[in-house]
Amino acid sequence: MTGKFYGIGVGPGDPDLLTLRAAALLKTADVVCIPRSAADNESVALKVAGAHIGPAAEMIEVSTPMTRDKDQLEAEWRRGAEKIAASLAAGKNVAFITIGDAMLFSTYTYLLKHVRDLIPEVEVESVPGVTSFAAAAAHLDLPLSEGTEKLAILPAVDDPEALRPLLAAFDNAVLMKVAGKYEQIVAVLGDLGLKDKAVFVSRLGYPDQFVTRDLDSLVGKKRDYLSLILIKKGGLG
Ligand SMILES: C[S@@+](CC[C@H](N)C(=O)[O-])C[C@H]1O[C@@H](n2cnc3c(N)ncnc32)[C@H](O)[C@@H]1O
Repeated sequence: MTGKFYGIGVGPGDPDLLTLRAAALLKTADVVCIPRSAADNESVALKVAGAHIGPAAEMIEVSTPMTRDKDQLEAEWRRGAEKIAASLAAGKNVAFITIGDAMLFSTYTYLLKHVRDLIPEVEVESVPGVTSFAAAAAHLDLPLSEGTEKLAILPAVDDPEALRPLLAAFDNAVLMKVAGKYEQIVAVLGDLGLKDKAVFVSRLGYPDQFVTRDLDSLVGKKRDYLSLILIKKGGLG
């Protein structure tokens, strides 16, 4: 019988921010599938979830290249899905672990499409996780939105100028993936008068987590990929 495919959001970083369901499934999965970019010495998701994985679990890695080349990405996802499908076809349950929530900017959702192409009848369960921005808001005791406030969740990887109309239209925003275009993002926030209504959060839940309201202090400095900015037009309180 074909195994079951699980996509497990393991939360933002703190190993005790996994859900009980995620922890229980990881304890019993036959195979745990780990996303790994060439830049990682160790998979970030594995660092977060490692303590919950059963001792008998077989580990397989899926490469997640840091590229936006569609063909290269599709080829890697296909290769990853083939590895997963081979284990599923052998009757093993496979749990793919992913940081934060499974359904938000995750390799899991791309892999899932390919796994379903390969095994259309496969049984699937996606397990939600605490998102990075939910954990950041909680860490700061900062409501993401109250009442009728509109909240935008924006990947800030493309032209930061495109953020202007979006930031104008929403009361609050989460800017994700801010490390690469940080200088341009900060310049846009400055123009819009939002710099003192924003907070930068990096590597939340890891020993080297870092939070600052002084966005200028990071201009020209190295920023970690696991970084986001929360913006509240009503102020940070
Ligand atoms: C590929 S997305 C993954 C999002 C994830 N699925 C979630 O639910 O938060 C990666 C982005 O999430 C944010 N992120 C993830 N973990 C984080 C952490 N521990 N601290 C701060 N930001 C984090 C950063 O903006 C990073 O660039």
